[in-house]
Amino acid sequence: MPAKTINGKELGQKLREAMTGEVTQLREEGIVPHLTVIIVGDNPASKSYVNGKKKASAQTGISSDVIEMPASVSQEELLKKIEELNNEKAVHGILVQLPLPDHINEQLVIESISPYKDVDGFHPVNIGKMMTGDDAFLPCTPYGIITMLHSYNIPIAGKHAVVLGRSNIVGKPVGQLLLKENATVTYCHSKTENLFEYTRSADILIAAIGKPNMISGEHIKDGAVIIDVGINRKEDGSLTGDVDFSSAAEKAAYITPVPKGVGPMTITMLLQNTIKAAKGLSH
Ligand code: GUN
Repeated sequence: MPAKTINGKELGQKLREAMTGEVTQLREEGIVPHLTVIIVGDNPASKSYVNGKKKASAQTGISSDVIEMPASVSQEELLKKIEELNNEKAVHGILVQLPLPDHINEQLVIESISPYKDVDGFHPVNIGKMMTGDDAFLPCTPYGIITMLHSYNIPIAGKHAVVLGRSNIVGKPVGQLLLKENATVTYCHSKTENLFEYTRSADILIAAIGKPNMISGEHIKDGAVIIDVGINRKEDGSLTGDVDFSSAAEKAAYITPVPKGVGPMTITMLLQNTIKAAKGLSH
């Protein structure tokens, strides 16, 4: 039976509409949720992501501004700007778009953002709280994936979740969130031997490896739930995921498309985190 498509675009829109109400309420209380995004250099993909974040914020009534810094900016100058924003009461969320140029220590930058304004959920304090199950800003892509699974009433507890990829942004945290939901979690990565033995045993497969169409129907179990986090640009400029959609959709029970799958959910959860920051909920 062909899989049900998990429509991240539609779900994201629905959640954003609900958030608009929350933002209106906050504005009536005199709080204007505000997100500041810092972008360093002129990486076209980063620019496009930042534009998406700006547009989605405006659509939800969240105020935002983008600080553009040249690729030559010193680490010191960037850290100084972050410190200013940490102390600026009207700024609730701070996001430094990654990647940063090589001369800047990315981890140091992440750690310089106040954990209370860390709407990306990348700060070690938030990562630690996520691991212990305390209230934290959750990293947006993993948060979006869990929200999708819940919204489609997909059972997680007791299921075998296989995570392909171990990045700090997606792979590691999504595994933790699935564990918190009582899944049995296996992490696979570039050094995993017999990778497809794992993918074939997955009830829930999270593909976040950045290899176009690496997973196809023959690599998955009948009735699996397939979450494709890959955003790979093809030569013609169009996007494709880590999963070959058409063959996987013939076997899976649920599958996310690329585009209109995980991507719009990531931005939606960023807005949710910004609202949370404005409410001061993570203090
Ligand atoms: N670069 C790619 N994805 C992300 C993200 O979620 N947050 C930030 N800050 N940079 C990114």
